[in-house]
Amino acid sequence: MQSFPVAGKSVLVTGAARGIGAEIARRLHSEGARVSLVGLEPELLAALADELGERARFSTADVTDAAALEAAVRDTVEEFGGIDIVIANAGIAPPTTSVSTIAVADFERTVDVNLYGVWRTVKFALPHVIESRGHIVLVSSIYSFFNGALNASYAVSKAGVEQLGRAMRVELAQHGVTVGVAYFGFIGTDMVETAFARPSAALLRKAFPAFLTRPAPLGTATAALLRGIEHRSPRIITPGWVRLALVLRGPLGGLDRILAADRRVRAAVEVAESA
Ligand SMILES: NC(=O)c1ccc[n+]([C@@H]2O[C@H](COP(=O)([O-])OP(=O)(O)OC[C@H]3O[C@@H](n4cnc5c(N)ncnc54)[C@H](OP(=O)(O)O)[C@@H]3O)[C@@H](O)[C@H]2O)c1
Repeated sequence: MQSFPVAGKSVLVTGAARGIGAEIARRLHSEGARVSLVGLEPELLAALADELGERARFSTADVTDAAALEAAVRDTVEEFGGIDIVIANAGIAPPTTSVSTIAVADFERTVDVNLYGVWRTVKFALPHVIESRGHIVLVSSIYSFFNGALNASYAVSKAGVEQLGRAMRVELAQHGVTVGVAYFGFIGTDMVETAFARPSAALLRKAFPAFLTRPAPLGTATAALLRGIEHRSPRIITPGWVRLALVLRGPLGGLDRILAADRRVRAAVEVAESA
């Protein structure tokens, strides 16, 4: 495994105002990295930059806004002298509902933030990461290969992120750049808390063994991310059971038939569609 210490490195993190993005920025900063916090909420980003002090800066940018994102990258390079590591983390969860009932705008917004937002982030940062022969992390999910019932736009976007990462990993190898894809199960953040509070999501969870949907502490995701970056790992996987699920992803696809017939899944779809 290659060793890639983060001390002194310039790291750009999107979705850094809260959740996994904010926490990994804290971890990286405590290891001596310079962190550029990019996100939607200037007050939260400014408060985090203040909390961290030296070696932290922020830019307000929506990852669906190419010009704002390009400016965030440019400002980071101007202040830090380059970019060594990018963590394309910003993401949203759509309303928990079916493909039949989700609003067109909600479906497309999810893909725009979660997939095209990641694409724009890496596209603009790439020349700088190539220059530094650095590392890129794309935050995907178990939904890149799990069935996305009542969460289709999210699953579509995360499957796309995985493919983007795999292609880049091969293309960038000759430039000395490494690419990691993060496969997180459920992690205890605002995103999951909000989604799990919905009645249809609560019903859907009953169709799965409890351990699969029990949120892991935020620290497990950020510890895995830090380890993955320090070793330029191609895959960042947590909690542990996700590793087995990844190995079995082919056969697991056969469970769609069982899910389609499960009365709890059917009840969840009914509740979602009648909400
Ligand atoms: N939590 C999980 O179980 C889990 C599992 C697998 C993958 N993930 C992925 O991990 C990443 C982080 O999620 P999280 O759980 O930390 O969620 P979170 O607590 O909701 O944080 C997401 C962050 O992304 C920001 N964001 C959303 N849309 C944005 C946009 N258009 N432009 C810029 N920033 C934007 C949010 O801004 P606001 O502060 O304005 O909301 C927030 O700061 C996401 O990509 C998510 O899909 C999470």
